[in-house]
Amino acid sequence: MTKKILAIALTAALSCTALLAGCGGDTENTAETNSTTGGATLTMATNAEFPPYEYMESNEVVGIDVDIAQAICDKLGMTLAIDNIAFDSIIPAVQSGKADVGIAGMTVTEDRLQSIDFTDPYTTATQVIIVNTEGSTVASVDDLAGKTIGVQLGTTGDIYASDVEGATVEQYQKGADAVQALKQNKIDCVIIDSEPAKAFVAANEGLTILPDPFEEEEYAICISKDNSELKDKINTALSELKADGTIDSIVAKYIGSDAE
Ligand code: ARG
Repeated sequence: MTKKILAIALTAALSCTALLAGCGGDTENTAETNSTTGGATLTMATNAEFPPYEYMESNEVVGIDVDIAQAICDKLGMTLAIDNIAFDSIIPAVQSGKADVGIAGMTVTEDRLQSIDFTDPYTTATQVIIVNTEGSTVASVDDLAGKTIGVQLGTTGDIYASDVEGATVEQYQKGADAVQALKQNKIDCVIIDSEPAKAFVAANEGLTILPDPFEEEEYAICISKDNSELKDKINTALSELKADGTIDSIVAKYIGSDAE
C-alpha cells in the first residue's frame, strides 16, 4: 500500500511536470474558469479540522493551506474564498464546480485520481498512530490487527485502517473527535496525519505518537479533471513559490522546531 500510493503520487508529479513544460505563461485571465462567482475568485473547499494545515482561529479559517492558497491567488491575481465543509464533501464539491479547488492536506491517491485531478504536490506527510500513553495494547503497526481504530471519515487514515486485518474502524467527522474517543478508551488508537497528530497530542494530556515510520504521502491541490487550464496556472504558481522559498517559509511559520 505504501509503495503504491507513493508511486502514484510520484507518477502524478512527473506527469504534471511534463504538462507544465508544454504550457504557456498566461496567468492573467482566470475569470471564466469560475462558473459560480463569475469573477476572478478562487473558491477553495477545505475542512478546518486539521491543524496546522487548516483550523479555526477566532471564526477564521487559517493555516498552511490557507497561506499557500493566498500566495497562489496573489500570483494569479485572484481573490481567495474559503468554503469550510466536511472532508468527504470536498471532492464532490470540486467535481460539481461548487468549489474550484480542494486544499485540505489532501493526499494524492490512485483512488482519488479516478475522479479528480491533482496539481503537483506541495509537501510530504506521514500517517502515524496515536495511543494512550498509559496501558496501550498498540505499540507498533504490527499490533493493529483486531483493534478498534479511530479515523477521520474519508481520509487516507480511514483507508489504511480498513485494510488492517480484523480491525474495527470507527469513523469520526473530525480527527479531534477520534482523539477524544481515544482518551475515553472507546477505541485503541487513532490513525491520522503526522502534523495534526502532533497538534492534537500537544493539546491533550496522556497521549503518545508511536515512533514507527508509517505511510508516506504527498499533499496536493485537487481540481476538476476538466479544469486543466487552471491546474496549469496553479502548477506554475506553485513551482515559483517553491523556487523562491515561499512554501518553505509558510510551512516553517506553522511547523517550526519551537512548535513541537
Ligand atoms: N491526508 C489525509 C487525506 O488526504 C487527511 C486529510 C484531512 N484533511 C482535513 N482538512 N481534514 O485523506
